[in-house]
Amino acid sequence: MSMQQHPWLLRVENLTKIYGEPGPDTLSKTGPSFESNICPDTDSIVACADVSFDLYPGEVLGIVGESGSGKSTVVKLLCFDMEPSVGNAWLRPYMDGAVDMLHVSGQQKRFIRHHLMGVVYQNPRDGLNFRFSSGGNIAEKLIMAGHMHVGRIRERASFLLEKTEVPIRRMDDLPASFSGGMQQRVQIAKAIANHPPLLFLDEVTTGLDVSVQAKVLDLIRELQQELGVAMIVVSHDLSVIRMLTDRTLVMKNGRVVESGLTDQILQDPQHPYTQLLVSSLL
Ligand SMILES: Nc1ncnc2c1ncn2[C@@H]1O[C@H](COP(=O)(O)OP(=O)(O)OP(=O)(O)O)[C@@H](O)[C@H]1O
Ligand SMILES: [Mg+2]
Repeated sequence: MSMQQHPWLLRVENLTKIYGEPGPDTLSKTGPSFESNICPDTDSIVACADVSFDLYPGEVLGIVGESGSGKSTVVKLLCFDMEPSVGNAWLRPYMDGAVDMLHVSGQQKRFIRHHLMGVVYQNPRDGLNFRFSSGGNIAEKLIMAGHMHVGRIRERASFLLEKTEVPIRRMDDLPASFSGGMQQRVQIAKAIANHPPLLFLDEVTTGLDVSVQAKVLDLIRELQQELGVAMIVVSHDLSVIRMLTDRTLVMKNGRVVESGLTDQILQDPQHPYTQLLVSSLL
C-alpha cells in the first residue's frame, strides 16, 4: 500500500534557522558547495535552511548526516524547543492542518506538544525529569495532557513501562539509578503515553552499548508497527536509518542534499556525500 494515497500528517516548508545576524548573501554563500554553514560575510551560522518535506501517517522518516549538519535543529524547531528564523509547518490533527503550527501562541504550542507529539532525546536528561521517578515522569506527561485520575494514571504508567520492557518494580525509582538503555526505554514510554500520532527520536541509541542499542532499536521498530505512529528518526548512523526508516533526508552543512526511499538511497546514492556515507556502511 502506498502511503502517498493518504493526506500528509505533517507538512514542512522552508524550515530555516540562522544564528546571528544574516546578510543578504548568507544563504547563497553557505551550504554543501561551500563545505560550510558559516556565512563568510557575517559569521552567522545557518543551522538549517530550506528544509521541506511531507510526512505521511504511520511513516518513518530518517534524517541522516554528519555532526553539525542540522539534524537536531530540524527536530527542535518542529517540537518547539526553539523558534525558526523562517519556515512553516502544518500538522493534520491540529486544526485539520489548516494553521501553521510554528506561528501560533505558546499556549497552543504546548497543547500540540503535549497532545500530538512525543520526543525522545539522545540525552535522557533532556527528556526526563531526574527528580521524578520513572512512573512519575510518565504521569507528568499524562497530567499535562489533562488526565486527572491518579489510579488510572498509575495503571497507564505501569502498562507503558511493561510495554517498553522496564521492570514494573522500578516504577518508583529515580531514572538516575537506571542503566542508559533503561533510561531510553522510560523516555520512549513517556513519549508514547498519550498516543501521539508523531514521535521524534533524536540519536536515541547513540552512546549505548551495541547490544543494548540493538534491543532499543528492536523495541522502537515493534512499537512503530504496533502503534502505527509516524516517526522522525535522527541519526548520524546509516545502519540505524536502514533498520527503522521508510524514507530518508540526507543533510550536510544545514541543507538537505538528497531525499528519497531509504532502500533506494542505500542502493543508489546520488549525492557524493551520500555515496561516502553508504560506502562506509559496507
Ligand atoms: N546555540 C547555537 N549557536 C550557534 N550555533 C549553533 C547553536 N546551536 C547549534 N548551532 C550550530 O548549528 C549547526 C547544526 O547543529 P545541530 O545540532 O542541528 O547538528 P546535528 O546534525 O544535530 O549534529 P550532531 O550529530 O552533532 O548532533 C551546527 O553547526 C551547530 O554548531
Ligand atoms: Mg544532533
